[in-house]
Amino acid sequence: MTIRRVGVAGLGIMGARMARRLLEKGFEVSVWNRTPARAEALRGAGAAVATSPRALADGCDAVVGAVADPPAVERLLFADDGLVAGARAGFLYLETATISPALSKRSAEALRAKGADALEAPVTGSKLGAERGTLLFMTGGSEQTLAALQPVIQALGTKAIHCGDTGQASTMKLIGNAMISYMLEGFCEGLTLGRKAGLSLDTMLSVIQASGYASPYYDFKGAAIRNRDFDTHFSIDLLVKDQALALEEARNLGVPMPGLAAMREVFQAARGRGFGHEDIVAVVKVLEANAGVEG
Ligand SMILES: NC(=O)c1ccc[n+]([C@@H]2O[C@H](COP(=O)([O-])OP(=O)(O)OC[C@H]3O[C@@H](n4cnc5c(N)ncnc54)[C@H](OP(=O)(O)O)[C@@H]3O)[C@@H](O)[C@H]2O)c1
Repeated sequence: MTIRRVGVAGLGIMGARMARRLLEKGFEVSVWNRTPARAEALRGAGAAVATSPRALADGCDAVVGAVADPPAVERLLFADDGLVAGARAGFLYLETATISPALSKRSAEALRAKGADALEAPVTGSKLGAERGTLLFMTGGSEQTLAALQPVIQALGTKAIHCGDTGQASTMKLIGNAMISYMLEGFCEGLTLGRKAGLSLDTMLSVIQASGYASPYYDFKGAAIRNRDFDTHFSIDLLVKDQALALEEARNLGVPMPGLAAMREVFQAARGRGFGHEDIVAVVKVLEANAGVEG
């Protein structure tokens, strides 16, 4: 089957940009968002706007899901007017949200029961990756479905690494976001200590980026700290959601993750202070406040 009509469900930071990429690549695009007003800019850009996920599935060969969290995915797929209700044989769903392996499996099973299928496909690359079509996909599910969805994946990203059966890609994504938590929190703790001790931010960034523990991530987030730019690429609220999902998976498998459990509380403190909707780098503000360092 050639995929021509593609739907995007969830027009937040990631979904809105993916929908624009698909329009630019010449797909016939339809969109759905819980808050309809957010779909108007895409209507203006040439997308059709569906009134429900069910109607979206009905009018599309494939739908890309980009809603926030497990409750949002439950609503999108399993409500009376959800995607599953609108699915038919041959319909394909590309799940890009970060959710639990268990929910990913349940979604795929519900669609398979209707002769449709889902490919689990969490992404990394954030807002700019979605905008530029340079996302990295981690995929889980049937290789045949992966092959069928390749035109959509290639429009949105530069690489897909197949991780295995449904569930494996979600687990891989949670591992990645656990690692980002350590990297970012450790970076921010170190910079805060250094600033209290009188080191300049630029000196610290120069040393870090010349070292064996340098990372492109530290260039990106270091510049954000220097510019006090906390505009959201990936929100603290959603990272805490992923930390909780990783800890839940670890609990299910009997794996201790003491570092992540402690880290989550630091990001939780940022939510408590009202920074939940800001970019994850805003966690530095909590560390600075606790250390008596001026931002
Ligand atoms: N941002 C990143 O860097 C990034 C990178 C990789 C993966 N992800 C993952 O991609 C997904 C989307 O992230 P995002 O940054 O685009 O999030 P976002 O900007 O917060 O957008 C969230 C979207 O989910 C919708 N939504 C929230 N709760 C809902 C509910 N109960 N029912 C239906 N729709 C609901 C929102 O609709 P409304 O407009 O109605 O609020 C909005 O369209 C998340 O799973 C995230 O973890 C994000």
